[in-house]
Amino acid sequence: VPRILTGIKPTGSPHLGNYLGMIRPALAASATPGDHVSLYFIADYHALTSVHDRARMAQLVKEVAATWLAFFPNFDPARVVFYRQSDVPETFELAWILACFTSKGWMNKAHAYKAQLAVNEAARTDPDAGIDCGLYMYPVLMAADILLLDSDGVPVGKDQVQHSDIAQRINHTYGGEVLHLPEALVDDAVAIVPGLDGRKMSKSYDNTIPLFLSASQLRKKINSIPTDSTPPEAPKDPATSLIFTLYKMIAPPEETAALADRYRAGIGWGAAKAELANMLEAHLAAPRARYEELMANPDRLDEILARGAERARALAKPVMERVRRAIGIAR
Ligand code: TRP
Repeated sequence: VPRILTGIKPTGSPHLGNYLGMIRPALAASATPGDHVSLYFIADYHALTSVHDRARMAQLVKEVAATWLAFFPNFDPARVVFYRQSDVPETFELAWILACFTSKGWMNKAHAYKAQLAVNEAARTDPDAGIDCGLYMYPVLMAADILLLDSDGVPVGKDQVQHSDIAQRINHTYGGEVLHLPEALVDDAVAIVPGLDGRKMSKSYDNTIPLFLSASQLRKKINSIPTDSTPPEAPKDPATSLIFTLYKMIAPPEETAALADRYRAGIGWGAAKAELANMLEAHLAAPRARYEELMANPDRLDEILARGAERARALAKPVMERVRRAIGIAR
């Protein structure tokens, strides 16, 4: 059964963009019975490249875990493995081995590193400013996550397909399939979710709709979307409305079509916002209740993560044994 692996970096409180971009597609994928096993992990050691506050790290890991589990209340442990990267120490053993087959010149092309380099260039500062080795090595750790569990597919952005080169070098050096080469599943169908200001929803733009606001905070958030002073009776083009775009991403097609008609006939922005807030509330009320329950029961979270860690390590063990044997460090 093919294994599909997804990493979630806990660097911010989960928001609607995370739900629509990652969680919902993951849910849809796991609804197809029996055709694959899903591996989801919290990439806490990836977050360490930017989160250096102990309490915040602990809180973010907890929030991300509770969020995912709130949407997967009754996941089938035979088909979904949910774990924490730091609970699988084999990851770091493999990361070192991979690093020894990764040329520095190739790492210079890594995305996260180049992005910081570009920032430094623009600011005319030292090119190495703000770049620690964790950021530089980011793709190696990511490759370890992927290769450690013999993953068959990884849904990643085009700019993140960097694990194959390293695996190929190891396979070439030792002969045979020491590491299993997964496929990068680039999904262009997942739309970019706009934030409150119309730019891509991102914690770095401070334009997110957090997933688990209270019902009244959620309403307030939606009401803060800027609108113009067109009168309620004036016809409005749904295609150019941010409020409509967000609605469409959540609502069923019939309801979306019905609301589009109301826009074209003339709708007040207050009413349009109320429609969006109601739709979101209907969607999020049940997961919110589960989220709050999990956040109030950290023991339950730990228990679920411990079970996931056990399963992930069981999958990692034969891979590590294979790799150790291949490089001549077998016990
Ligand atoms: N880099 C991913 C992110 O920024 C998280 C991640 C870490 C990941 N390791 C991975 C994703 C392995 C897919 C596969 O969110």
